Amino acid sequence: MITLALSKGRIFEETLPLLKAAGIEVLEDPEKSRKLILTTNQPDVRVLVVRATDVPTYVQYGGADLGITGRDTLLEHGSEGLYQPLDLQIARCRISVAVRSDFDYPSAVKKGSRLTVATKYVAISRDFFAAKGVHVDLIKLYGSMELAPLVGMADAIVDLVSTGNTLKANHLVEVEHIMDISSRLVVNQAALKLKQAPIRKIIDAFASAIGK
Ligand code: PRP
Repeated sequence: MITLALSKGRIFEETLPLLKAAGIEVLEDPEKSRKLILTTNQPDVRVLVVRATDVPTYVQYGGADLGITGRDTLLEHGSEGLYQPLDLQIARCRISVAVRSDFDYPSAVKKGSRLTVATKYVAISRDFFAAKGVHVDLIKLYGSMELAPLVGMADAIVDLVSTGNTLKANHLVEVEHIMDISSRLVVNQAALKLKQAPIRKIIDAFASAIGK
């Protein structure tokens, strides 16, 4: 049995064509079903539906042989023990710093002000501001980061930006582009040895589907 861990939403949708290229079709829709283990047209391939931030954990501990997860999640979680054969170039976005449109970020940075930053990306934010020499107090949030500057809880946020619509709708502006994000294929190292042929087949099919 080959087990693949995926999160619902964009990663799931953008993975379906890759699976199809590997001859795998998921037989249930996670948006409609409450099932957490989805069957496929291949009796020996199944898909686990897990939280995006849990994908590396499932693969690391062998709950899944393979997983697809964002570069952001891997950087925050750490990628110890995970083999990362492919950047799938799906679910592309960026991690940025954003502030209220009336906050003068360049002059706060120039003055050496201490900034309060709300984010779920604590590790990425700590590294980014440390490299810039900006002192920050980080507030860990789990979602809806855009609210924090609006209610006076933070000067800035560090969050994913795709279309920019969420920032715009909340009167925030992007002031720093920290890094580009896309999703990676991660593989459990023991599974790669024990189930080499079927896992290699999937890696190769994904690679040729993305033109690599
Ligand atoms: C992400 C991110 C932003 C939004 C950005 O949230 O946290 O809120 O997408 O996208 P946009 O630039 O296209 O508006 P997501 O919907 O992934 O949910 P989350 O809050 O659970 O991270």
